[in-house]
Amino acid sequence: MQHEAFPQIEGMTFREYCQSLCDHMRRLDPRYDWIGIYWLEGDTLALGPWSGSQETEHTKIPVCEGICGAAVREAKTIIVDDVRKDSRYLSCFFDTRSEIVVPIHANGQIIGEIDIDGKETGAFGRRDQTFLEALAHHIGEQWPGQW
Ligand code: SME
Repeated sequence: MQHEAFPQIEGMTFREYCQSLCDHMRRLDPRYDWIGIYWLEGDTLALGPWSGSQETEHTKIPVCEGICGAAVREAKTIIVDDVRKDSRYLSCFFDTRSEIVVPIHANGQIIGEIDIDGKETGAFGRRDQTFLEALAHHIGEQWPGQW
């Protein structure tokens, strides 16, 4: 997916749009094994739309926990090459090896994040970061003010 060619929101609610983005990205890139968007509700990340072969038990994550929480606390993208070596990691799927978490900002605040799990170690790098930060920016621009 090119930055300038994100699918358009016309005719969809914001939630439907975020769901379509998750489905679309997963189809486009097999490295993106599980993709979810968490909304930030107070001090908790709540799972919204997701695309993957399995549900996660982590549908609510306090910002003090997990790689997901760390991305909010540090207000930056986090890439983990090998989740088995990261003590922050909250395990969801037995075969996950790498993870990238990208905060979504709107109106100068973090409103949520994109979380992607991969099956290979070191699956995600600078190109993913650049692309997903552009996507997160795009999602933030579409945000209607509430989830
Ligand atoms: N692994 C994440 C939890 C969410 S699942 O990957 C879907 C974490 O450590 O925060």
